[in-house]
This record gives sequence, structure tokens and C-alpha cells, in this order.
Amino acid sequence: MKLRFTGLPFLAGFLLLFTHLMAYSGGPPNGKTGAPGEGTCRDCHNSFGLNSGPGQVTIQGIPEAYYPGDIYTLSVHVNQAGQSRWGFELAAKTVTGSQGGAITVTQPQYTQTSNSGGIIYLKHRSAGTFNGQPGGAVWEFEWTAPEAATGPVTFYTAGNAANGNFDNTGDYIYTTQATSAEGVTCFSDGDVNFDGSLNILDIVTVINFILGTDVPTDEEFCAADVNLDESLNILDIVTMLGMILREDG
Ligand code: HEC
Repeated sequence: MKLRFTGLPFLAGFLLLFTHLMAYSGGPPNGKTGAPGEGTCRDCHNSFGLNSGPGQVTIQGIPEAYYPGDIYTLSVHVNQAGQSRWGFELAAKTVTGSQGGAITVTQPQYTQTSNSGGIIYLKHRSAGTFNGQPGGAVWEFEWTAPEAATGPVTFYTAGNAANGNFDNTGDYIYTTQATSAEGVTCFSDGDVNFDGSLNILDIVTVINFILGTDVPTDEEFCAADVNLDESLNILDIVTMLGMILREDG
């Protein structure tokens, strides 16, 4: 009688534990990117010291300075010769530790997001562990830079170069971080002297930049680069003349 009643909770507990264990490779818990105040995957995958193996995790595509509201394609790379299963978690935070910009999943079959405490955590899914794939793995995503006056944003990521034994043993955990400064907001409207209109004075200013008699600030460069090719030359002058003629006509 007694055994029959304790059997059910035991079975339920076992099933709960089982599904709990199986869930991890399908997506690690939030707050394990190695950001200040967070843990890392090594909280559970602790066969080796943090960043102690011959592999690495990197984040690629982060602009040195972001333009508020612009969208960037970034990727997380985990590599280690000899390992065969992969995972990661990433967060983007401001200096005060709040969410820095927005993260968009572009590979829904391999990655997912989950929010806690106002922070978006991007991480692998089960299929995104690429079990059996030698050498390493890459996951892509999009980052929408935050609005102006947000300040620098730091990306924190932890990566797991795992051995594919469906357990949390024998796996190497790596962390890295990289910061994107806030860039100037570009208004490429030709109003280089910021007097509210585009006219011959702006063209004179740009000619001085081109001749090297004057050096533009970042904001002036933005305003002068009306053909958006990231250099100042005669083509910008031609474009500005066209804009002035169109405005007058
Ligand atoms: C709370 C404990 C815990 C944390 C924290 C944790 N994991 Fe895991 N992880 C596990 C367990 C348990 C397993 C084995 C069961 C399974 O496959 O779900 C596992 C399995 C994995 C596997 C498959 C391993 C293999 O060799 O087959 C990958 C990949 C993985 N985790 C990635 C991560 C990443 C990346 C992080 C950090 C961002 C992380 N885990 C954080 C507990 C954890």
C-alpha cells in the first residue's frame, strides 16, 4: 500500500529530472554569458578551467562605432580542434548593464532568444549544436543599434566546445567580450556648415576639405559625403550642385 503511493511521485520526479537534463543542450539557462554579475556555462560544464583549452570563442562583425538604429549582421564563432559539438550564449549590454540595442534571430532553426531581467539572451537550439561537426561552429544574427545617447554597447558571449557525449563533462568553456562605441548620427544632406540650407558656402567648405586646407569633423564629413561612398571628392561637389539646382528649380 505504502509503496504504491510513493511510486508515483518518484516516477514524476524522475521524469521531471529527465526532461530537465535533456533540455540543456537545446538551450542553456539565461545569465551565463560571463557579463559582470553573470555566471558562465562553466557553472555546470566544469571539467576544465575557463578559457584554459586550445580553442576560442569570438564575435565578428561588431562595428568599432555604431550608427544609432542601423542594423548589423554579427556572428559568434566557437572553434577547437578535436571537439565535435557546440553551443553559445550572447548578450549586448550598455555600461549600466541594461539591454543594448535589439537582437534579431536570423537562423531560427539553429538559434533562439529568451529574456530575463530586461536582457535578451541569444543562444543555440538543439539543431544548432551541430553534433558531429568537427572544428567549430558559427551562428549568425542581426543587431539593431540602440538610439542616440545610449553610449557604448558591450557584447558578452560564452561558448562551449563540447565533445558530444550528451553530458556536461569533457567540454571546454570560453568567454569573450567586445565593445562598440556610439558613432555620430549621419545626416548626409550637404549642409556642411549647419546653417540650415544647402548653398555655395557648403560647396566652398567641401572644396577646402578635398584640397586639405581644412579637416572635417565626423559630423561635417557625414554632411559632405552626399553620395555616401565614404570619401570626399569631386563627385560630392557634383551631387551637391545637382541638389542646389533641384532646390532652386
Ligand atoms: C545549469 C547547468 C548548465 C549550464 C549553466 C549550462 N549547461 Fe550545457 N548542459 C548541461 C547538462 C546537464 C547537459 C547534458 C544534458 C543535455 O544534453 O541537455 C548539457 C549539455 C550541453 C551541450 C551538449 C554537450 C555534449 O557534449 O553533448 C552543449 C553544447 C551545451 N550544454 C552548451 C551550453 C552552453 C553554451 C552553456 C552556457 C551558455 C551551457 N551549456 C550552460 C547543463 C548546463
